[in-house]
Amino acid sequence: MLKTHPKISLFIIIAFSVLFVITYCFAQNLETAITKEKANTKNPIPSCADSIEKGKAVYSQYCKGCHGPDAVRDKKTPCTETFCPANLRDPKLWRMGEGAVFWTIRDGRKPMPCFGERLSEEQCWHIVNYLHSLGS
Ligand code: HEC
Repeated sequence: MLKTHPKISLFIIIAFSVLFVITYCFAQNLETAITKEKANTKNPIPSCADSIEKGKAVYSQYCKGCHGPDAVRDKKTPCTETFCPANLRDPKLWRMGEGAVFWTIRDGRKPMPCFGERLSEEQCWHIVNYLHSLGS
């Protein structure tokens, strides 16, 4: 039997644990990552007043509780190290296009829940139009 020094064994165990954690986190990330294909999804609903109005109503019902009444992160928004709702007026929100925002709403983004089953695709596009109308 090959005898390994206890310190080396410990090192091997730690190395494998770290590798496992990194792989696990990467897999979790991939699961919720927005692919290029998804980001390129075209918005089928024109950003007209009617759509923006509908989006605002859906936002008030489903998103306001976490993201705040004005979709901007301020002092009233609950924010801790592990749970911090994004500022939805940040222009960076649109860096990957409207499709990416649409899929973030549908698929969720840990710790944010997904809305794919609660909201129709149309409702999600109305929200996208509403958020885009906020001037960011
Ligand atoms: C239970 C609380 C909660 C609710 C309800 C919620 N969100 Fe979120 N949302 C979060 C948190 C927390 C994050 C930040 C996730 C992270 O850490 O990446 C987030 C992130 C996002 C992002 C990603 C922003 C970015 O920078 O890419 C979008 C878009 C978003 N939310 C939109 C919505 C919309 C639209 C609704 C309503 C349909 C909604 N959220 C409802 C908690 C919530």
